[in-house]
Amino acid sequence: MAEIRLENLSKSFNGHDVIRDVSLKVADGEFCVFVGPSGCGKSTLLRLIAGLEEATSGKVLISGEDVTRLEPYDRQLAMVFQSYALYPHMSVRDNIAFALRTARMREDRISAKVAEAARILRLESYLDRKPAALSGGQRQRVAIGRAIVREPRAFLFDEPLSNLDAALRTDTRVEIAALHRSLNATTIYVTHDQTEAMTLADRIVVLKDGRVMQTGSPEELYKKPSSVFVAQFLGSPKMNILDASVDADAIRIEAQGAIPTSARLPTQACKLGLRPEALSIVEPGRSVLGGTVLFSEYHGATRMVVVDIGLNRQLTLQLPEHQRVTPGENIGLSVSQDTLHLFSEDGSTRLV
Ligand SMILES: Nc1ncnc2c1ncn2[C@@H]1O[C@H](COP(=O)(O)OP(=O)(O)O)[C@@H](O)[C@H]1O
Ligand SMILES: [Mg+2]
Repeated sequence: MAEIRLENLSKSFNGHDVIRDVSLKVADGEFCVFVGPSGCGKSTLLRLIAGLEEATSGKVLISGEDVTRLEPYDRQLAMVFQSYALYPHMSVRDNIAFALRTARMREDRISAKVAEAARILRLESYLDRKPAALSGGQRQRVAIGRAIVREPRAFLFDEPLSNLDAALRTDTRVEIAALHRSLNATTIYVTHDQTEAMTLADRIVVLKDGRVMQTGSPEELYKKPSSVFVAQFLGSPKMNILDASVDADAIRIEAQGAIPTSARLPTQACKLGLRPEALSIVEPGRSVLGGTVLFSEYHGATRMVVVDIGLNRQLTLQLPEHQRVTPGENIGLSVSQDTLHLFSEDGSTRLV
């Protein structure tokens, strides 16, 4: 397997910058997820690594070797796409074997490799079927099988679960995680789905407008997002953000109470970030924040409650299922000190 390094990689299409000066390292054996909203350049970045797009500037290195000018085949990476791109007239067996036949591998070796991939992916009883006779999840497993037999230096996945329905998406996600544990292969996985990023990644790279916003483990990014963008992109329901100001001893929110702080920041306007699960209900009048319940959604183990706190501001709370509230009810909210996030007024940097 291999380490992948990007050095100041940029790509523009017709003068339009799509990837802007991206530098990062994916360690040998690491499961790295590129996540960001649609159009932020995730696929382009993956295609630059695969060699399917030519870099405008910068370098791609695999295990220290500069592959920036190498053809895709010579980079020895395997890519799995959202559309499975299977050959419809070929059996599962022949689909998985295709690249090996093209490379003129001996038939007995091909059989052994196909059998091994089918075992890992639990496709043994489907080897003689055509893709049309498989479920979406099974088709995606065939596409992964085709990648595995090539013994690539790394696996590249581009939104592999997007064509699957919700239940199958969760199952296949768990399978991809298990596959990574057993193969221990360097993997780059692209998705717009924060849940996939949080659950699969050793390390997440958050992208926006072709730039890296932040990299870190799922926990690091969840607990210490470096910008309002990352804070709101990771986590569901998303983090509440309020306009506030901070001075030496308190965070002040207009027409609400003050939250004491020991951060000793210079006086300034700021954005206050509160995760929905960091807010809890207390007696009205004895609290820092308060408002009127707009609605409450039952989610089984939790309830999601939206509260109007005046001046056109709403807060989303995630409460344990047993805490019932009624629309129209006045409630107080308390905030635990160690779970609040403070950002600069423009949201671009983290203060605390
Ligand atoms: N071949 C291309 N020619 C021109 N523009 C492109 C091409 N490929 C991608 N783009 C543009 O680059 C941006 C990023 O696209 P993409 O990498 O597909 O985003 P993502 O995968 O994050 O949704 C988009 O604005 C897209 O329109
Ligand atoms: Mg894409």
